[in-house]
Amino acid sequence: MSLKEKIVICSGKIRPVAIEYLQDKVTLKSWQQRGRVPEPQWTVWLQEADALYSAGNIRIDEALLQKAPKLQVIAQASVGYDNIDVEACRAHNVKIGNTPGVLVNAVADIAYGLLIDTARGIVRGHLHTKSGLWGERKAMGLGVDLYGKTLGVVGFGDIGSAIAKRAQASGMRVIYHNRHRRLNDAALGAVYVSWEELLQSSDFIVVAVTLNPSTQGMFNEAAFAAIKDGVRFVNISRGKVVDTEALYHALKSGKVAAAGLDVTEPEPLPGDHLLLTLPNITVTPHMASATEETRDEMALVTAQNIVAALSGQPMLAQVK
Ligand code: DGY
Repeated sequence: MSLKEKIVICSGKIRPVAIEYLQDKVTLKSWQQRGRVPEPQWTVWLQEADALYSAGNIRIDEALLQKAPKLQVIAQASVGYDNIDVEACRAHNVKIGNTPGVLVNAVADIAYGLLIDTARGIVRGHLHTKSGLWGERKAMGLGVDLYGKTLGVVGFGDIGSAIAKRAQASGMRVIYHNRHRRLNDAALGAVYVSWEELLQSSDFIVVAVTLNPSTQGMFNEAAFAAIKDGVRFVNISRGKVVDTEALYHALKSGKVAAAGLDVTEPEPLPGDHLLLTLPNITVTPHMASATEETRDEMALVTAQNIVAALSGQPMLAQVK
């Protein structure tokens, strides 16, 4: 079968750059309308698909794989793949591609923005102004400096170290905790510490781990009890790494002075969720990679992963 005869289906709207790349090379079935592909259509597509371009908006598990007997590859337009049952894919001999690398700077920028917001209350200041309370700004209290403070980065991969670099530009000292110590940590100006030490020594904490059984719920009641009083807390990894209720209580009591979250549990976070009743939190809707340039690069890598896998070539990034 020629490459052009291979059928590539998409679970949601995809970027024009990916369509351009794929349309002459393969048989592309993409859903360019809002929302999910209608179920009857989706069932037919799965039956015939050689490759799935996952917009990350579906659960990919045994049930889906059963419906897709020809599937050879799933390429997801994200670095995270916690919506994919990797073991089930392995059992069905289905390769998985993702997009690490290209989103590092965009995600690190959002983390840094939230870090500054936890120190200075930028969003809170905006809401205050918008409520006509400029003249009463003293009621907002004072922020704290980043300069001279200790940032603890949990998960020191490419994104964690890009966040560290930004924090160092603000004069912060960076410590980190990771599954394994980074060999080049001295060159990165960061100091490896134990989990306990990170909790006890950090003035700010940024979470940049991947979600897996060992990181799920790692920020629980015990972790929040062990942190320094008045820590500022940022999560740009996955909502499930944090016990939402424990964070709520830590923010309410002031143990955590402020939090900035780009990811939550649940997602989407309902507008009337208890967390959003707190004055000391900023929540953005999982938008860390959402820039024009980054989303184009993620789409292109996803499309390239598909063509590579269908041609029997190594993917640009494969989940092993
Ligand atoms: C990812 O790629 O996993 C990010 O969470 C998307 O913003």
